[in-house]
Amino acid sequence: MRGEILSAVERRNMFLAPDAYKLVEENNEPMAFINSILNAMKDNQIFITKQDVLDFMYGDKGTMKEEKYIKPAVKFCSDIHVVDSTDITGKSTCTGVIKDFSKYFQDRYRSIKRILESNRKFGQSMPLAKALSYTDREVHVVGIIYSKNTYDNKSIGLKIEDDQGTICNVYIPADSPASKNIFIEDQVIGIIGTPRKNKDKDKPPSITASEIINPDVPETNNWQISDSDSTIAFLSDVHIGSTTFLDKSWKKMIRWMKEASTSINLNYIVFPGDVVDGIGIFPDQEKELSIADIYEQYEALAEYLKDIPDHIKMVVHPGNHDAVRPAEPQPALNDVFTKMFDSNVILSGNPVYVEAEGRKILTYHGRSIDDWVSNVQQLTYNDPIAVMKQMVVMRHLAPLYGQKTALAPEEKDYLVMNTIPDIFVSGHVHGAGHLNYRGVRMINASTWQDQTDYQRNHNFNPEPAIMPVVHLGNGTVKMMNFRT
Ligand SMILES: [Fe+2]
Repeated sequence: MRGEILSAVERRNMFLAPDAYKLVEENNEPMAFINSILNAMKDNQIFITKQDVLDFMYGDKGTMKEEKYIKPAVKFCSDIHVVDSTDITGKSTCTGVIKDFSKYFQDRYRSIKRILESNRKFGQSMPLAKALSYTDREVHVVGIIYSKNTYDNKSIGLKIEDDQGTICNVYIPADSPASKNIFIEDQVIGIIGTPRKNKDKDKPPSITASEIINPDVPETNNWQISDSDSTIAFLSDVHIGSTTFLDKSWKKMIRWMKEASTSINLNYIVFPGDVVDGIGIFPDQEKELSIADIYEQYEALAEYLKDIPDHIKMVVHPGNHDAVRPAEPQPALNDVFTKMFDSNVILSGNPVYVEAEGRKILTYHGRSIDDWVSNVQQLTYNDPIAVMKQMVVMRHLAPLYGQKTALAPEEKDYLVMNTIPDIFVSGHVHGAGHLNYRGVRMINASTWQDQTDYQRNHNFNPEPAIMPVVHLGNGTVKMMNFRT
């Protein structure tokens, strides 16, 4: 265990004081505990002291604060809708030609540049071509990362491009705090630095960065308490049609819902994708299917959803196992599959923003977690919340192009986190966890499927049958366990 704890700390380029380590080791769940602490630490923090751990435990850096709220008179509420401008359904423009890709990346660049320039510390940026005409004065520029190199001495070289097509090398010295940042291709960053002429006159100038600015969420962002007394639940990766669907646990949850959902004013449920197991998603999948017909899988799902009390409004969007195009953003499920669904089910694309009683909820299935984990050394499948935190830091759900997550080049990049959500939920990796990061309730919403053979062979242990519930008034998060 000691090795695992210390390597989790090392992966984030941090150090754990011996007396802080002791507190972690004494915790019942040391790995979950250290991961939560690491996620809650400031980005530029290097040493974690005993006091930091104590602050985390008693000062509630990583968990929800008790907050007062005013009880409203109405209990059954149905104030939920999909934010139309964030839903690709019926609006796809891409035809797959080069022009589409150019427009797509221009939109990503401009959207994130807008977020960066709203940061007072960064302010207005200048085009790269203009910045490179200066020498020995500070410039603020925005670039999309084209490539990254780490040299033997730990300094970093980036090749960046702006929306005018200017390309430039950026050098980050090893001893600069900026070198501690996570960098990935196709990410948009702000750079504060100094242009330098190249000794070789035939080569273009470069910029030496003193600071890297991520779009991120401002440190001052917080959960504004409202008078809502409703709660919202998340049921991800249900996987109806799989032999490993946890029918008993699901029924236990439904029993609780029928008996007690009104006691916590559970008025809304979001399903963040993989509602069915699908067909032909991976080799030999048919051996793991209890329902081998895609239409019948959705029919069975409709029956399961009918058991949920009528007053609860539901939002269902697809994941990579569902019957829509795999490229993201994915449109809503077609009504050939969903015509049996009751009227309390709203269908939307993936990702999408949903508004419930004034709360902004960003729900994304999470396919890109595969790409984050395989491209960023510090991120692992065991800690999906840390991946979600990086999505927030970069204000993009899936920056990497050309990996497992197919990205459709729409005119608008729907995967940019343009609006700061109150709740950000994702699934896909079948883990369960939550973290309050700068006021955003981040949730990884479990699964209703037991460990599959594929997962067993890859030593992956899911955390199934957990239903996260968030109070829309005060932001308290509860993880309700229905495992039988
Ligand atoms: Fe799944």
